[in-house]
Amino acid sequence: MHWFALGTSILAATGTAYAKRCPVKVSRNLPLTFEVQSWSGKRAVQNTVLTGSNNETVSAISVTGNGHIAHEGGSISWSCISPTVTRVQINSPKQFVGAKFVNDAADLFYGVWEYPLSGNIANSNVSFELKGFGNSEGINWSNARAPFFISTAGYGVYADSAVMSSYEFTAPGTAEFIFNTSSLTYYIITPQKRNDYKAIIEEYTGLSARSIMPPDSAYGPTFYSDDFEEDFHGYVHNAQQNYYDVVDHLFYNKIHASGLFADRPYGTGNSSFGNFDFDPKYYPTPEQFIQNLTDYGFDFQVWVANRAFLNTELYNASVENGWLFPGISPEQFLGPALNLSIPAAYDYFKKRLSYFPSIGVKGYKIDRGEEGEMPVYEQNIQNVLFRKLCYETMVEIWGENGFHDFSRSAYDRDRAVTTVWDGDAHANFTGLRYTVTDGIRAGLVGFSHWTSDTGGYVREGDEPTEELWARWMHHSAFTPEFVVMIGTNHTPWYAPYTERLVSILKETANLHHELIPFIKSYTYQATQDGVPVMRALFLEYPEDEKAYTISDEYFFGEEFLVAPVVNEGGSRSVYFPKGADYLEYYNKTSIHKGGSTTQVQLELEYSPVYVTAGSIIPRGDIVQANNKWTKNWVPHLNIEAYPSFDVESSIFTYYNGISKKPVPITMISNSKQSSVKIVHGDIGIEGTLTLFTKKGQVKASLAAAGGMVEFHNVESLFS
Ligand SMILES: *[C@@H]1O[C@H](CO)[C@@H](O)[C@H](O)[C@H]1NC(C)=O
Ligand SMILES: *[C@@H]1O[C@H](CO)[C@@H](O)[C@H](O)[C@H]1NC(C)=O
Ligand SMILES: *[C@@H]1O[C@H](CO)[C@@H](O)[C@H](O)[C@H]1NC(C)=O
Ligand SMILES: *[C@@H]1O[C@H](CO)[C@@H](O)[C@H](O)[C@H]1NC(C)=O
Ligand SMILES: *[C@@H]1O[C@H](CO)[C@@H](O)[C@H](O)[C@H]1NC(C)=O
Ligand SMILES: *[C@@H]1O[C@H](CO)[C@@H](O)[C@H](O)[C@H]1NC(C)=O
Ligand SMILES: *[C@@H]1O[C@H](CO)[C@@H](O)[C@H](O)[C@H]1NC(C)=O
Ligand SMILES: *[C@@H]1O[C@H](CO)[C@@H](O)[C@H](O)[C@H]1NC(C)=O
Ligand SMILES: *[C@@H]1O[C@H](CO)[C@@H](O)[C@H](O)[C@H]1NC(C)=O
Ligand SMILES: *[C@@H]1O[C@H](CO)[C@@H](O)[C@H](O)[C@H]1NC(C)=O
Repeated sequence: MHWFALGTSILAATGTAYAKRCPVKVSRNLPLTFEVQSWSGKRAVQNTVLTGSNNETVSAISVTGNGHIAHEGGSISWSCISPTVTRVQINSPKQFVGAKFVNDAADLFYGVWEYPLSGNIANSNVSFELKGFGNSEGINWSNARAPFFISTAGYGVYADSAVMSSYEFTAPGTAEFIFNTSSLTYYIITPQKRNDYKAIIEEYTGLSARSIMPPDSAYGPTFYSDDFEEDFHGYVHNAQQNYYDVVDHLFYNKIHASGLFADRPYGTGNSSFGNFDFDPKYYPTPEQFIQNLTDYGFDFQVWVANRAFLNTELYNASVENGWLFPGISPEQFLGPALNLSIPAAYDYFKKRLSYFPSIGVKGYKIDRGEEGEMPVYEQNIQNVLFRKLCYETMVEIWGENGFHDFSRSAYDRDRAVTTVWDGDAHANFTGLRYTVTDGIRAGLVGFSHWTSDTGGYVREGDEPTEELWARWMHHSAFTPEFVVMIGTNHTPWYAPYTERLVSILKETANLHHELIPFIKSYTYQATQDGVPVMRALFLEYPEDEKAYTISDEYFFGEEFLVAPVVNEGGSRSVYFPKGADYLEYYNKTSIHKGGSTTQVQLELEYSPVYVTAGSIIPRGDIVQANNKWTKNWVPHLNIEAYPSFDVESSIFTYYNGISKKPVPITMISNSKQSSVKIVHGDIGIEGTLTLFTKKGQVKASLAAAGGMVEFHNVESLFS
């Protein structure tokens, strides 16, 4: 690899191993224009570099032959650092630097924000800063984000900076970004294989950061109340007992769960955060309480934020040392944040926060950071610092895979230290629809482990209705983590909710629990290549044009097509992307051809979920968590196989959590002999294989160490 020193000739890009194949070339220098040749075979994309002394008046730069920026000074250099990645580095005397990409007008752009500004998965006709959103349609504060976008012209762009920026996708086929910095590095990612959008995400997460493997408790189901210090029932008269009431209801209903957490309030002091404690009135014995929950199979987390509420210990120490962002009034509910760029502030906060893991807390619900507690231009910088600080307090006690932090705001490399939840979704069908689109979009910017408050967070009157809640539960079953917000007047096993909702909760929570082997395998994959568990349709079937605009259906891994009911009344249409045949998953009777559309009308007990022909789905009971109702519990896998003679071979890469290794499970079907063979490596625990066929289910046992099973006279459900 050869990196041009600043000021060397950019037009003489020779002498590097990749230069000849480099898909990015300088086509003009007045203004400087890079031509990006992608797989698409369309007109080449034109990329110009922008600078300006303020962010509203940037213009394209020109260069002289030696890489100096003509007229204004500064320099620019570029190089192919691999056959698929070109790095552009700009040093300008101007305060704002950015770039513009012009494609064909029909090309689409994806990424940057989790929140769907336009309600869609693509960024059409939208522009916004790369900061948190506030109160918005469908979801308030939906704030995972990254300086990264994907274009259907066949490339992606990652700008590696945490300073404030703005992105604009308003002119058709055009993307533009401007950063508040005079020095910026951005990368143009151009995979070699046509339509390989997964490779763009893989390169981006490789350049920035990949997520880490969370503990088994991170899949949930997880239960919490917005306020465990109220809503007492029966014997309950403090918060600790309120959790026990939840634990007991889950036990008696045999609902699997692995997490509980304390949202605010739980501590003493103003707004209950900043003294690093539990309020003894509600939590008389916090350490024993957490130990007890741990013994019952629950990991326990607490709410945190970078916010100094008036007169708390955090506030007083910060005032004394000058750590708070100036000019933000503490005389209100919000309060200022600490400037964590100051090392002493960072160290103090970290030391105090360490109290929580020291008494058994295994992760944080990391809130806020975009609610006016600091200047906007500090948001991303402080966001990264606070999540790193939180991570460090936990990792020192629990190790890298022993705890689970989750945030509503997360920026770029934060995926290495936190997972995300979608923010404060409204508890109605608008909220659910935006949530589904949000989850797909979070995946497109590499935040794989994503969840939402099942039923919605902003609850007014009788929200969520039983209908909405049931639909949302079905959606959450097919997300990486299933989190349910319960609490005052909103607990499935208390009025006004009925037994029917409790049974739907049980059905969906236990389905999710059974899917952990599947979800965990894809979560592991995301740690390796960045490809998310929840996937936009076009990631799987890029040859199908319709796959680029559908915002309320997604693939869960490669095998499941999930189309949650996001409207009242239970009906919706489902589109089946071209390239596979699909089997309806709940009843396992109807088959749908790729390219077709079907209209469904479903009761609350069902949801539109399909498996593709040839799928292997590892399910099973591999996490004990709160299961104290099964005598002599041992883990067991239930691997499902859906053979089709049109799919000669398929493979599932199962993550063996004991050896911590990916293990192939292969299915080979032979139509001439009507036989199906399944070969698997070391799956770590014993299992049962179920083959789903026209003649019913055929079962075989699977050895932990690996083996082969063969079935004859198979009649595929798909033929
Ligand atoms: C310029 O910055 C201001 C303040 O951060 C912001 O409101 C505005 O949207 C930005 N404009 C552009 C074109 O980036
Ligand atoms: C783009 O959005 C703006 C404001 O949000 C709107 O006025 C305009 O009509 C939209 N243009 C298109 C082509 O949709
Ligand atoms: C959420 O956002 C909506 C606007 O979409 C706003 O009306 C509402 O007050 C917000 N709710 C809360 C609890 O902040
Ligand atoms: C750019 O960042 C500087 C601090 O580095 C800040 O003072 C200024 O207000 C920011 N400008 C905009 C437009 O956000
Ligand atoms: C421990 O938790 C269980 C869970 O329901 C509860 O019944 C029990 O009272 C708790 N024990 C203590 C000492 O808190
Ligand atoms: C913080 O300082 C105020 C004013 O001096 C004092 O009243 C308060 O008790 C202090 N808070 C704590 C938690 O010590
Ligand atoms: C808590 O903060 C509010 C302002 O946000 C203030 O009025 C009140 O005095 C504070 N309470 C204590 C105990 O410091
Ligand atoms: C935050 O602290 C850093 C390090 O001391 C400093 O450079 C920066 O200007 C501070 N930010 C604000 C807004 O005060
Ligand atoms: C959901 O609630 C928001 C406000 O919280 C409202 O604007 C929206 O119209 C509601 N949607 C439905 C389908 O009721
Ligand atoms: C499954 O079959 C039942 C009983 O016939 C029916 O009510 C339900 O709608 C079916 N579910 C799906 C997803 O087709």
